[in-house]
Amino acid sequence: MTVKLLDRLEEQPADALLALIALAEADPRPEKVDVGVGVYRDAAGNTPILRAMKVAERRLLESQETKAYLGSQGDVRFVEMIKPIVFGEAALSDERIVGVQTPGGCGALRLGAELIAKADPQARIFVGQPTWPNHQPLIGCAGVEMVDHPYYDKANRAILFDEMMDALRKARAGDLVLLHGSCHNPTGADLDLDQWRAIADLVAERGLVPFVDIAYQGLGNGLEEDAAGTRLVVEAAEQALVAQSCDKNFGIYRERTGTLFVKGSSVRGAEIVLGNLVSLARTMWSMPPDHGAACVRIILEDPELRADWRAELEEMCARIRTLRGRLAAFDPRLDYIGRQNGMFSMLPLSPDAVLALRRSHGIYMAGSGRFNVVGLSDESVDYFAAAVVEQMAEPAYA
Ligand code: LMR
Repeated sequence: MTVKLLDRLEEQPADALLALIALAEADPRPEKVDVGVGVYRDAAGNTPILRAMKVAERRLLESQETKAYLGSQGDVRFVEMIKPIVFGEAALSDERIVGVQTPGGCGALRLGAELIAKADPQARIFVGQPTWPNHQPLIGCAGVEMVDHPYYDKANRAILFDEMMDALRKARAGDLVLLHGSCHNPTGADLDLDQWRAIADLVAERGLVPFVDIAYQGLGNGLEEDAAGTRLVVEAAEQALVAQSCDKNFGIYRERTGTLFVKGSSVRGAEIVLGNLVSLARTMWSMPPDHGAACVRIILEDPELRADWRAELEEMCARIRTLRGRLAAFDPRLDYIGRQNGMFSMLPLSPDAVLALRRSHGIYMAGSGRFNVVGLSDESVDYFAAAVVEQMAEPAYA
């Protein structure tokens, strides 16, 4: 008997991070804590729509006269407005950097991977471990070979910078290097500026191509500060890719709003890149969703809305830093959390210990020990910290 087409498919495991949302929701314990997926929560535990975004949405509703196609590049004005946020004002006139709107940071990463594979089917990308679990499927499925190297020592809560540099020194000209622009996901452990400078020098010296994932700009130390490393490596490299997301810093997670920027060696080279991006996008999503990008454009074009967005982003950033400070002050074993950036930190806990916390305290975090710092409410910080410290005292926690 012949096997029918769809019966050839194998069952797929659920995405472990996204599955946590439903698991936490189904837990009836009132004291449960969802620190799984990376979404911002305010003091009361809600993920609010930003004030400026609400105004922009209303304005869009009232003023938009058509929903006719925009084209595969998406909202070109939106891309133009995002460019200086990522690369600085000076980059506005740099025609070697081209960009297209994408469905979120994931779309940008996937489009970048497709571009790389099209340019060179043998392309390799160096990836520090641990990294965001979706990097491997998003980039790997385009056929780009992933070369893992050490990035972070979970047990000692330290960046393995020398090991990383040793690995990158073995890269060949034209190899790519995946870098987290800021707010490293999953560890929260960011490179400092001297380390970024060293990578920029190496990239220039060896002809490597940085591929920066900057999904949390503004949630670490501020919009400008969080882009400093990205700017250094992009400046140093002859060619580079940057996957950007507005989902977190504009709080529009489900709107899927991002950009892929690519720096070419010349203006002509960049024009060819842009043509390739457009044709690749056409084969994947044809055109990106409009709503999020249109609202971001409205905010960025209006000085008042823009200022209010920046103010609210700074409030979010400050809240994350306050929560980090509270965790760090709770116990010396958590003090490293205060020195890190962004939404995530990684606890030196084994998957079994993570499961034990889920069962005993209703604490939901990724099996790697990654938790969303800002998933904690003002009330739950101490409950969470006490449970974690108790778990860390278990002889076989790591
Ligand atoms: C996360 O890492 O939690 C977020 O980036 C959400 C996702 O898509 O994984």
